[in-house]
Amino acid sequence: MLKVLVCGEGPDRTGVMISIPQYPLYSATLADLAAVQINYYLDEDRCWGLDVAELKRALSAARTHCNPRVICIINPGNPTGQVQSRKCIEDVIRFAKEEHLFLMADEVYQDNVYAEGCKFHSFKKVLFEMGPEFSSTVEMASFHSTSKCYMGECGFRGGYMEVINMDPEVKAQLTKLVSVRLCPPVTGQALLELVVNPPQPDEPSYSSFMKERTEVLAALAEKAGLTEKTFNTVPGIICNPVQGAMYTFPRITLPQRAIDKAKEEGLAPDMFYCMRLLEEDGICLVPGSGFGQREGTFHFRMTILPPTEKLKVVLQKIRDFHMRFTKHFS
Ligand SMILES: Cc1ncc(COP(=O)(O)O)c(C=O)c1O
Repeated sequence: MLKVLVCGEGPDRTGVMISIPQYPLYSATLADLAAVQINYYLDEDRCWGLDVAELKRALSAARTHCNPRVICIINPGNPTGQVQSRKCIEDVIRFAKEEHLFLMADEVYQDNVYAEGCKFHSFKKVLFEMGPEFSSTVEMASFHSTSKCYMGECGFRGGYMEVINMDPEVKAQLTKLVSVRLCPPVTGQALLELVVNPPQPDEPSYSSFMKERTEVLAALAEKAGLTEKTFNTVPGIICNPVQGAMYTFPRITLPQRAIDKAKEEGLAPDMFYCMRLLEEDGICLVPGSGFGQREGTFHFRMTILPPTEKLKVVLQKIRDFHMRFTKHFS
């Protein structure tokens, strides 16, 4: 999709708006295509919420040096685990229309919603409910994958995108471009078929499918709550609710001496922290600097995927490590 959208030279080069913290696949793909990355920041104090004023700020700053043409939204979010409200989605759609931006809705975590009061709303559904003024004009692509949700079948490599309101001539080029890659393996295609057409109540595998689906999602919801609760008991760690997706992205306070020591070793402070944890306890977290974060703040990303009993041990070990680390460098 990005390959089709990116063009131009110098100040005319395509700019693509992505959230910060972001999923590094985006920055890497944009770098690969030599597109201009336009950062808009999610608001950590409002549970990683998305604010249209921030979108406007990022867009007008970018207009001085590139041609913004695309906005990417990840909902539910990776690495931040937030689920966007319906109102927020409407605001983004309005913004995209006003600013003539192509909307890319990455919705691969659409079934991973845990927090009470949160619900997944697809951009396409909201777009169509907003009426023809929007549904027949805003250009959009939404994405889904077999590798998330209750499936978690990363190895099969199956996914789809749905493209709406694209000029037919451009769409013909897109189809040609996608066709160059031939097709994914049969197993991935078969699995995707099952994702979009799951077993129905009158079919033999319905009850075992529903049982497994319910169990997987219930366990993830339990682990989301457990992770948030445990982290928030640790002085120096602040964790937003894990509303959806599969990750937590807590903020950590690092003592100045640890920051100085990291600089001495040529490492980002949160990388230094994560390496220490890996060396001392064998736990691998991803430093926040890999995803982007506000200057002067530090985070790490952790998945909530380990089995519950193992996760409890991991959380306890991170808790002990954080206190030990803080004490050592204070
Ligand atoms: C937000 C987001 N989009 C896309 C992907 C990639 O999905 P796939 O495994 O289908 O390549 C991921 C995988 O982690 C993701 O987190």
